[in-house]
Amino acid sequence: MKYVINTKNSKSDYNLIFIYEDNLANTVRIMGKGILCDDLKSAIDQNIVTGKAGSSNVFSSKLYEKNYVFVGLGNKNKLSIQGFEKCLYSALKIINGYNISSISIDLTNIIIKNYNIIKGSIIEIERTQYNFKNSAKNTLKECSLKIPSKISTKEFSNIKHESVAIAKGLNTARRLGDTPPNICHPTFLAKEAKKLEKINKSLKVEVLDEKKMQALKMGSLLSVSQGSKQPAKLVIIKYMPVKKKQPIVLVGKGITFDTGGISLKPSPNMDEMKYDMSGAGSVIGTLQACAEMNLKNNVIGILACAENMPSSTATRPGDVVTSMSGITIEILNTDAEGRLVLCDALTFSRKYKPRYILDMATLTGACLVGLGKYPSGLFSNNDDLCNKIKKAADRTGDRVWELPLYEDYFEELKTNFADIQNIGGRYGGAITAAAFLANFTKDEKWAHLDIAGTAWETGNDKGSTGRPVKLLTDFVTSNK
Ligand code: BES
Ligand code: MN
Ligand code: ZN
Repeated sequence: MKYVINTKNSKSDYNLIFIYEDNLANTVRIMGKGILCDDLKSAIDQNIVTGKAGSSNVFSSKLYEKNYVFVGLGNKNKLSIQGFEKCLYSALKIINGYNISSISIDLTNIIIKNYNIIKGSIIEIERTQYNFKNSAKNTLKECSLKIPSKISTKEFSNIKHESVAIAKGLNTARRLGDTPPNICHPTFLAKEAKKLEKINKSLKVEVLDEKKMQALKMGSLLSVSQGSKQPAKLVIIKYMPVKKKQPIVLVGKGITFDTGGISLKPSPNMDEMKYDMSGAGSVIGTLQACAEMNLKNNVIGILACAENMPSSTATRPGDVVTSMSGITIEILNTDAEGRLVLCDALTFSRKYKPRYILDMATLTGACLVGLGKYPSGLFSNNDDLCNKIKKAADRTGDRVWELPLYEDYFEELKTNFADIQNIGGRYGGAITAAAFLANFTKDEKWAHLDIAGTAWETGNDKGSTGRPVKLLTDFVTSNK
């Protein structure tokens, strides 16, 4: 897609204008005089154009100079990032159906605190171009943006470049998540990561096979893949363009399918466990974005990839394994496998002397129960890091909500048969899972994002969301 700054005489097939429910008169005033304006006025009088959030009205007549879509945003002072992006997305989906090649979007009357409207809009426009089944369907080629304040062409071009890079990474994460689990196995994810090397010479990808992981004594990670014919992979994506700078390490849970293992999951919706690699997908997407935008920061991605299957070689509840850190783990539930692959990946990541470690994982159904599908669960052993992540969430609308890591939760992981067990008690499952991980990052500044509720949509809109790529790209750009 080509993006340009809108000038008075830009000609586009469709013009998108945002309107507010409580400010309709202003819209009419801005539109000036003429047939279009008269039609708009009468449509407002008849309650056809309301400005309600999510509504859009198409005005296309040979009598008008241009075609218009009026997109409702609801009340002006209640506008949120999520609200804006949702309305823009649905309007663009309608326009995409018209098979037109150019649009203009008027962003001048939108102000949302902490939010870069140009960046957010470009990412959202690129997001509408994603279609897992049919990628060649879109006809839209040019988008001209009318923007609120004056910015130089150079500045615009920078924002544009960065936004498109982020959107590409986001759509990569979505594509990986949506890819069926018979295709997207650990070896596939490793190959997809390897492809990134082509983008930028600062990017190097290394893949450790099971033999190498055995040599590293990753007994916990390997216990998860031992029931599957698909071998586990540990993938390291290094993006280190800056000399002598400690990296930010991003660790992703890459369970390409989670049956639960011997602690087998119930059948309904089990297909959705193909999304159990979304953490790893978001790390690949983020590293792709870093490389595409030529970010001047050091970032390392680590993907802990395995398939969790029941078989005669699978782990049994009661098995005790030794993790790379030396901590022994009693596996009481083979369905709590995410923490088992992550703990070894976290221990491994220490060798890079990271400034921060962030891990992303579709870790617990309990997180979804507790927080719903809007924010990702946030846990950290460092307040400063935690605040930085919250700020990135505020700027991008990729929301997080912090949960506590009191000492009490750690007590629940005690067992008579090993150093720790892999599940806690009946309540607070998202927190005991995070507490388990915290045992492996005691000396680092670490945060964990439970994306079980946010990584994919269910129902009719089933599909990967690409979250939290926006959050992560913002975090690595603002913490150089
Ligand atoms: N991948 C699942 C978590 C999950 C479940 C995410 C449903 C999204 C929707 C994870 O591996 C898992 O099975 N967790 C268990 C942990 C339990 C056995 C302590 C869970 O949440 O039930
Ligand atoms: Mn599981
Ligand atoms: Zn899982």
